[in-house]
Amino acid sequence: MTAPDREDGVPWRNFYGRRHGKKLRKGQKDLLATRLEALAPKGVTWEENPERRPIDLRALFPNAREVWLEIGFGGGEHMLSLAAQHPDVGIIGCEAFINGVAMLLSGIERSGVTNLAIHPGDARDLLDVLPPHSLGQVFLLYPDPWPKKRHHKRRFVNPENIDPLARAMTPGAMLRVATDIGDYARHTLEVLERNQNFEWTAEFCRDWRAPWPGWPSTRYEVKALAAGRAPYYLSFRRKC
Ligand SMILES: C[S@@+](CC[C@H](N)C(=O)[O-])C[C@H]1O[C@@H](n2cnc3c(N)ncnc32)[C@H](O)[C@@H]1O
Repeated sequence: MTAPDREDGVPWRNFYGRRHGKKLRKGQKDLLATRLEALAPKGVTWEENPERRPIDLRALFPNAREVWLEIGFGGGEHMLSLAAQHPDVGIIGCEAFINGVAMLLSGIERSGVTNLAIHPGDARDLLDVLPPHSLGQVFLLYPDPWPKKRHHKRRFVNPENIDPLARAMTPGAMLRVATDIGDYARHTLEVLERNQNFEWTAEFCRDWRAPWPGWPSTRYEVKALAAGRAPYYLSFRRKC
């Protein structure tokens, strides 16, 4: 768990992505003010939980048969679709970009799904406090590519994040990574191959060329396909 001290004593992490985009509409601001708190898991921020005690997922999703995680959900289209397809699963999404969080809240209002939770911040803060062996599936879809070599350490896929993810996943759980950047796919395979807790499940080319069953696509995938880039769909099983 890396969290250098800030002057006021509250630890923090460098985050290099955007937190805000264009000005939020009044309806979006209202949703953030009135709906977000009830959907946000308690005990994730350092202020709420300085000892980093594991949070209570049973209290968050009392009737769920499994809990899944989506990291960097963007506008939340994929999460909404998963939630509707799997009403018996509780899904936690993390997104640091507040405009994306507002978009997901609008989607939740429209669709009426009740099996979602939102951490509006850095996914690494949630990883710290997830109970061991608590996640049945994890999605990391079109992560920020950070193409320059000197920025590769900013990529979400790195041992510092993959180790706590492995700890939080149940044996047999799947980690799904989609990217349209060949170098990110190569980097992901290298990092995951070096981690003893995961095995890549692909046997044939079609296994990483075609999405997994139930794939509802994402905003970034639509952009990638429109630009003529072919996505890679990488699935890793958490070993027992
Ligand atoms: C390229 S976008 C992809 C969005 C979405 N998954 C899609 O496919 O449309 C990557 C997203 O990950 C978010 N992100 C990056 N690092 C994150 C982190 N540590 N915690 C939470 N969100 C993060 C960014 O804010 C951004 O919205």
